[in-house]
Amino acid sequence: MSFPDKQLEDFISKLSNILDGRDIITDQEIIYPHLQDWVGNFHGNSPLMLTPRSSEQVSKILKMCNEKNIKIVPQGGNTGSVASGIPNGEVILSLKKMNKILDLNPKDYTITVEAGCILNQIQLAASEVSRHFPLSIGSEGSCTIGGNISTNAGGISVLKYGNMRDLVLGIEVVLANGNIVNMLKKLRKDNTGYALKHLFMGAEGTLGIITAASLRLFPKIENKVTAFVSLTDLTTSMNLLEILRDFSGELLSSFELIPDIGLSIAIEFGDNIINPLVNAEQWNVIIEFSDTKNNENAKNLMEAALQHALEENVITDAVISDSIAKTQNIWKIRKAIVEHQPKLGGEIKHDVSVPISSVPDFIRTTGDKLAQYLPGVRPVPYGHIGDGNIHYNVCPPIGYSSEAFKEKTKEIREIVYGNAFTYGGSFAAEHGVGIIKKSQMIKYKDPTELTIMKEIKNLLDPKEILNPGKIF
Ligand code: FAD
Ligand code: MLT
Ligand code: ZN
Repeated sequence: MSFPDKQLEDFISKLSNILDGRDIITDQEIIYPHLQDWVGNFHGNSPLMLTPRSSEQVSKILKMCNEKNIKIVPQGGNTGSVASGIPNGEVILSLKKMNKILDLNPKDYTITVEAGCILNQIQLAASEVSRHFPLSIGSEGSCTIGGNISTNAGGISVLKYGNMRDLVLGIEVVLANGNIVNMLKKLRKDNTGYALKHLFMGAEGTLGIITAASLRLFPKIENKVTAFVSLTDLTTSMNLLEILRDFSGELLSSFELIPDIGLSIAIEFGDNIINPLVNAEQWNVIIEFSDTKNNENAKNLMEAALQHALEENVITDAVISDSIAKTQNIWKIRKAIVEHQPKLGGEIKHDVSVPISSVPDFIRTTGDKLAQYLPGVRPVPYGHIGDGNIHYNVCPPIGYSSEAFKEKTKEIREIVYGNAFTYGGSFAAEHGVGIIKKSQMIKYKDPTELTIMKEIKNLLDPKEILNPGKIF
């Protein structure tokens, strides 16, 4: 999108009636970090970034943009994985200065926050009043709740608490025409017609700007027990999941797959990471139990479950962490895979889901298909398999040129997504569609569903001023 100088000048001069001068940013050095996605696939451009401090300001900005047909890209922490917050010439609307906690009510188990609050800030605020906000993702120190809701973020605790959508009680949204829709109720029951708030969750900023949200809180977690376990075989991961659930009920909060190649990446490139099991097998999992009681119960149940799994030949070895340092070491392995995987000569990332019981079969058959296509290719499937969500990332064969591997992106993506589809799976489990998966929307979405989505977009944003070119 191009932005003629005269139109930009005129727009900026009118904006100064709405925003403080500090919140109208044209300095390209300041804008620069907002143009690049962390995965490094996209570098966009934008002449202007606005940093409003209230819903009323957002409303006035959008009203003016709609009248003048000026396109906007909302942005939170810019940690999204599918480049959905990267502008292509549009104005960036950063919510980061709207970062106030508006209400914290431990009796109601709710917190109401502005959209630019950093996830970690919300977790800490809840913890200070003996409550727990459970969304937990690697970017929690920099992503915002507005971004989390707009991507319907997942993470490592979905197993126990659900996706972001399940944690939202109400939201406030500014529509493309500037109207403010107040759906900020803190109710757990409110069957008053269509649940419109859900339209905006996972919409990646294409239907409205989320300016505030009321969120569910839970009892504070007083005790976590973490284990690193080697599986007898990938298929026994599902037996293990069943055993853990049978033994611990609601305590199980994380079940994350770590393949041996991921463990090697973490040990080779991570910061002082120690292998928790010297005889780690090809497939391993990180397990976490979270308990609201600070006693031995969770540990005892973990020990009993793992003992049973050993006897049933479901696992070959296990270590239960007995110190903060060991727990940190285990989770550092998980984080290091995400960070250092590109060092294997490049990576092609996938965020897919299949029905939980199909996970082992899906991982195996995808590996077979990839090997057939490119012998020596190195899949690194890891992540939230307790939810059926696999980050099926793929690295090139040893010694293969990164450039040549990149050229195979389309074919490799089709193998992974196509295979997920045959299992009744999704090509976008928790990261969204953004720019990257637009063609898969056409290929895999039900055409009628897609048509309804476009009609909703057209109803709420007929001039397509909100995050154009994303999702569709
Ligand atoms: P941004 O990247 O700024 O924006 C994301 C999308 O939301 C864009 O479309 C943007 O336009 C829109 N948007 C942002 N704010 C608003 C708003 N207020 N109103 C309307 N639209 C808005 N994701 C997971 O789901 N699970 C994980 O486990 C996970 N782990 C990660 C680990 C790392 C190390 C990193 C870097 C990322 C990870 N992510 C994960 C991806 C990312 O952190 C999430 O998608 C997060 O929810 C994005 O939040 P954000 O504030 O950075 O949003
Ligand atoms: C994770 O689970 O660590 C992330 O979703 C991975 C990613 O963003 O690529
Ligand atoms: Zn993830």
